[in-house]
This record gives sequence, structure tokens and C-alpha cells, in this order.
Amino acid sequence: MTAKNILILAGDGIGPEVMTQVKRIIDWMNGKGLTNFAVSEGLVGGCSYDAHGTPLTDETMQRAMDADAVLLGAVGGPQWDNLDFSVKPERGLLRLRKDMELFANLRPALVFDALAEASSLKLELVKGLDIMIVRELTGGVYFGQPRGIETLPNGERRGINTQVYTTSEIIRVAEVAFDLARKRGSRVHSVEKANVMESGLLWREEVQKLRDAKYQDVHLEHMYADNCAMQLVRTPRQFDVIVTDNLFGDLLSDCAAMLTGSLGMLPSASLGGDLGGGKRRALYEPVHGSAPDIAGQNKANPLACILSYSMMLRYSFGLLKEADLLDQAAQNVLNAGIRTGDIMAAGCTQVGTDGMGDAILAELSKLNG
Ligand code: IPM
Ligand code: MG
Repeated sequence: MTAKNILILAGDGIGPEVMTQVKRIIDWMNGKGLTNFAVSEGLVGGCSYDAHGTPLTDETMQRAMDADAVLLGAVGGPQWDNLDFSVKPERGLLRLRKDMELFANLRPALVFDALAEASSLKLELVKGLDIMIVRELTGGVYFGQPRGIETLPNGERRGINTQVYTTSEIIRVAEVAFDLARKRGSRVHSVEKANVMESGLLWREEVQKLRDAKYQDVHLEHMYADNCAMQLVRTPRQFDVIVTDNLFGDLLSDCAAMLTGSLGMLPSASLGGDLGGGKRRALYEPVHGSAPDIAGQNKANPLACILSYSMMLRYSFGLLKEADLLDQAAQNVLNAGIRTGDIMAAGCTQVGTDGMGDAILAELSKLNG
């Protein structure tokens, strides 16, 4: 097997320290001959701005385009909050998503048995929870034109963003959701605000048409986004796959994340279209942000980033056994009561970022015989 090229963009805040633990796991898997990955690294976000005056250089962008998969840590921090919009750390991430055409963002919200108690909801509501949120990632109000801030003749200022979706943008992300649903519980909730937004009405109509034409075996329900937020905290287990637009997906995935007990646990995959030969561009990143308040203190939970790497094994390289191995190791470590501060509970053993990495590696060695 020729080596696959993985580009690591650790980013800002806790990004580098959680990524250090992933790099240890990559080395371990390479060493065992389970994978053959060639890793290179680059800058994104505030660290790139500090070094190059831009949150993502053209050169790094090109390397991301050429990589077999990209693994990203987190971007942003208070020291860059007052930068011009065009060079904010987040723009680096948004450019990666846009230029790589990563239109389907998969955000699983999975409750590990060992952590069910850490959820903000009652145990009986979240036990066994397994939701997949499919968020549209390259369209909608995040990228719609016109946008900007203008000054009106009367001196008042006006901020403008545009929510816009085309048929093909809706269909390609809905297909990802239906395909995933077929491998899970065969149920899709399509979420929009068709009661107030034309783009939402179009979304609803196109998703329904697609289901009737190609996915009659999948159960489809439409739901308004506000109701979905409410249902997520009321009876979250009613959901299997949720497909929604960029902005609603941003909000609802944070909400779903909290149901699982910790934002520090959630991985994500952002996938592009088929480039032929089974190849598609892909970027994997934890859902949590850069958490500047705990950065550099060996406190961050590396599991979301580690599980993002597991999603890479699964979705980019079809290495299902290796992904299962890593998921199992994470599961066992949690079952053994090993916890970072964010998921700490009575009777458990608290470890730091590297302690969690140690525990995962030890468990991997044990499982792999
Ligand atoms: C996310 C984040 C990003 C988003 C930010 C960092 C631009 O909140 O990935 O959910 O809004 O998409
Ligand atoms: Mg978000």
C-alpha cells in the first residue's frame, strides 16, 4: 500500500495539544503496520495570521487540496477577536471548507454509556443516544451574496447576509443524509424554517422529492428548526439522522453535543463530492473550539480529536477495523473511569491531555494483542 498523505493543521488554543495525542496514535498505528500514513503539518487560524498575515496561505490551501485527508484542531482566540473580518482565524477554516467543497458535515452525537451521567439531561432521556447531524457546510447564510456592512444615506449602518440555496446544493447533502440513514435507523428529519423562509420551503420540497424518487425505504419527517431545538432537549432519542442547513446545523449540533455530556467528546467529518476512483476530499475536526481559557495547561480532552481521526480511518480510507479498534479503546478507557476534567465524575481518575493519550495508547496495545 502506498502511503496516504495526511495534512495536520493543529491551529490555535488547545488544537496543538489535543493533536499531539492524535499524532502519537498515528505513529503507533503506522508502527504496527495498521496504516501507512505520511503526515505533514501546516498553519491555520490565528497562528497562521501571526506568521504570515493571513489565516490560511495559498500554499497551505494547495496542500490541503492535494492531501488524501486533512485533520484540523481548532482555530481562534481572544487575541485575534478584533482583526478585520477578512483575516479572522475562522476565515481560514471557512476557506478550507469552501475551496475543498466540503458540503456535507457529519456530526455524530453519541452518548457513551460511561458518560451518560455527565449529560445535562436525565440519564433515562439520553442513555444509548445516537444521532447523526448532517449539516450543509458550503452554502446558506455563511457564504451567500450580497453580504457586508454598509452606511445608509441617513448615516445609519446596515449589516447584510443572504440565505440562499439551490436545488443541487440541497440534493447533494440530502443524499448523504439518506445514504447514512440506510446504514442506521432509516429515519431522516429534515430541518428548516419553511414557515418563514423561501429557502426553507425550497429545502423542504426538494428533500421530499428526492425521498419519493430515490429513498422510499427511508422514513422522512420535516421539522421547523426551532421545534427541533426543543425536541432535542425534550426527547432526543426520537432522532436518527438530522439534515439541515449551514446555520441551523451550527446551532443544533452544539445543542446535540451538550446532550452527550461534553463538547470535548464530539468528532466531525466534512466531506466533498466523489472525485472519481472512490476519492473525495475530506477534513476531520473536533466540534469543540480552541478553548483559549484552558489552552496550554494539559487540561483539554483529546478524545474529540482522536475520534475525528477514527472518522478519517472510516470515511476516507475504509479502514473499518482500525476505526473500530480506536473507538473501542476510547470506550474502554472511559469505562475504566479515566477522565479529563470536563467529564470528571465521582470515583473516577482525573488525568490531563497527555494522560488521556497514554491511556488510549495502553488500551490500543492491549486490544491489538
Ligand atoms: C463550527 C464553528 C464554526 C462555524 C466557526 C469556528 C466558524 O462554530 O464548526 O461549528 O460556525 O461553522
Ligand atoms: Mg459551531
